[in-house]
Amino acid sequence: IGKNYIHKLVIDSTNNFAKEMASKVPDGTVIIAEEQIAGRGRLGRSWISQKGCGIWMSIILKPNIQPQEALNLTQVAAISVVKAIEEVFHVESKIKWPNDIILNNKKVCGILTEMSSEIDKINYVIIGIGVNVNCDNFPEELKGKATSLYLETNSKVDRKKLTASILNNLEFYYNAYLQKGFEYIRPICIEKSITIGRQIKVIANEGEIEGKAVTIDNNGSLVVETKEGKRLSIMSGDVSVRGL
Ligand code: BTN
Repeated sequence: IGKNYIHKLVIDSTNNFAKEMASKVPDGTVIIAEEQIAGRGRLGRSWISQKGCGIWMSIILKPNIQPQEALNLTQVAAISVVKAIEEVFHVESKIKWPNDIILNNKKVCGILTEMSSEIDKINYVIIGIGVNVNCDNFPEELKGKATSLYLETNSKVDRKKLTASILNNLEFYYNAYLQKGFEYIRPICIEKSITIGRQIKVIANEGEIEGKAVTIDNNGSLVVETKEGKRLSIMSGDVSVRGL
């Protein structure tokens, strides 16, 4: 991962560019930008990507897995970011299932996984990772929710160092996942989860679900126990965690 590397000063969105390039570049190509003018988050939200303060990158992967397994790659990326933050900043961040990295109860990183597939074959998966590294201001409406590694730890680091650590970890956990399956990744996802054990509300395809998050199952789905004692597995959704 990252052997082929494209660096841009300004771009609309590295995920958009990755989509355009995906069929023409090798597996593991990384696209990085200093600034995005139309950075995208999940569920059509926008992602603020100011110049030079964060890591705005997309990784193009062409794994030989089933399309429904692609969401596991979000988890693979999430644990890689958590491990990298640990290595570089010596602090423990947590994963708000499925794709937010949380430090001191605020979001420092978001992951946007997109793919192109046929019925039983993936053409490519794009893992978009946005990390607020040295950013020191956020719009009023995001204060209290979003933060940066610098604001939380008071240390500014070279973004290259953190990028390298994320990509090294991603290469390791991605290969481990491909060789050993989600089982290998699952205990780490559970250990680093801020969601498990908490009361949550999920807006999922199935509708709105309230309950306690109990675990992450073998498929990477979040298992929620409702008030009525029913256990539901949620593949993906927008989760709000009480107290966060
Ligand atoms: C989210 O939390 O909703 C996901 C945010 C993902 C942001 C990254 S920044 C690099 C890549 N390019 C984009 O336009 N989005 C992702």
